[in-house]
Amino acid sequence: MALTDPSKRLAAIPPYMFAELERKVAAKRDAGIDVISLGIGDPDMPTPAHVVEAMRAAVADPGTHGYPSNRGRAEFRNAFAGFYGRRFGVEIDPESEVIPAIGAKECIYNLCFAFLDPGDVALASDPGYPVYTGGPLLAGAEAVVLPLVPEHGFAPDLDAIAPGDLERARLIFLNYPNNPTGAIVPDGLFERVIELAREHEILVVHDNAYSETTYDGYVAPSFLATPGAKEVGVEVFSLSKGYNMTGWRCAAILGNADAVAAYWRLKTNIDSGLFEAVQLAGAAALEGPQRPLEEMNAIYARRRDLVVGALRDIGVDVATPRGTIYVWAPVPEGHTSTSFAELVLEEAAVVISPGSMYGPSGEGFFRISLTTPDERISEAVERLREHLA
Ligand SMILES: Cc1ncc(COP(=O)(O)O)c(C=O)c1O
Repeated sequence: MALTDPSKRLAAIPPYMFAELERKVAAKRDAGIDVISLGIGDPDMPTPAHVVEAMRAAVADPGTHGYPSNRGRAEFRNAFAGFYGRRFGVEIDPESEVIPAIGAKECIYNLCFAFLDPGDVALASDPGYPVYTGGPLLAGAEAVVLPLVPEHGFAPDLDAIAPGDLERARLIFLNYPNNPTGAIVPDGLFERVIELAREHEILVVHDNAYSETTYDGYVAPSFLATPGAKEVGVEVFSLSKGYNMTGWRCAAILGNADAVAAYWRLKTNIDSGLFEAVQLAGAAALEGPQRPLEEMNAIYARRRDLVVGALRDIGVDVATPRGTIYVWAPVPEGHTSTSFAELVLEEAAVVISPGSMYGPSGEGFFRISLTTPDERISEAVERLREHLA
């Protein structure tokens, strides 16, 4: 074994499949071609001004400069409890049912270490956010994927899970509004998952990264608003997307007090908590005016309509998403996800994400992110019409 060979766990993580696509993008840019990326989902608009102001004041306060407590400041926990009550009708005990996370990614990853042993299984949406499968592997456990297909409204078929997998399952990851499909939670799914979780002793982790980014009057629920949810599960709420705060690394885990305590215990061994100034800024985001979110959502909705319109014009049969910052669409016949992404790059100099990047059931689809400024989205859409009609 060579000195720099990674551990077996790290080596087990699937290689990054799209290195070739990235290489082609870099080559085009080097050649002076104006490539427009609709790949990554990182909001292009700034964090709301009142949040930036709260951060400025919090940073100036020496009281935030020491090691943070992993349990979180009272202001942070109270702000979350208040927000969950107002927004979702969910009662949260700020003392035992909420603590900060350094982004949802950290939280999901560390939940794997808090709850999975070798031989255990985590049930993960496919396509899905890659940490639902990478996290369990790094924890030495196994990820069993649950296909999400349009025919079933992007709900996992819980009856299709093999009995052996159910027996070994300790975690199930769900995420609605869903990345990458843009689907909203199908009626009755949370209820059915709670039954399954009770029957098989599986902890439900609902990744609520996109509840504040919805359109056409749709209001996304919290998983925790479903009766019985707190007995079997937790929700991870991130401020990244809804509040344009991806760089701030501000999220929380809420729900089942024992699960929250296990996550806290793990974290006291791993990191030293979330910078308290960021906690105070996060509290300001939740407690302050929510109007900036409405304005951002109106912008995303306009971009979404531009993209969906152009895709339909070039013959792509695409549904209009009511949540998230993504449009998920089937590739034209004769293409794989990767070959279509390469074609779009070659012909239109536009980057789209191949669906297979998000799991085996993403093959045959592609994802477009709406987080590119209006004029660039318009330009990209024109190029698609011109080159791919
Ligand atoms: C479903 C989902 N969960 C979590 C994250 C990461 O969130 P955070 O920035 O809070 O780590 C993303 C980011 O793309 C996501 O799409």
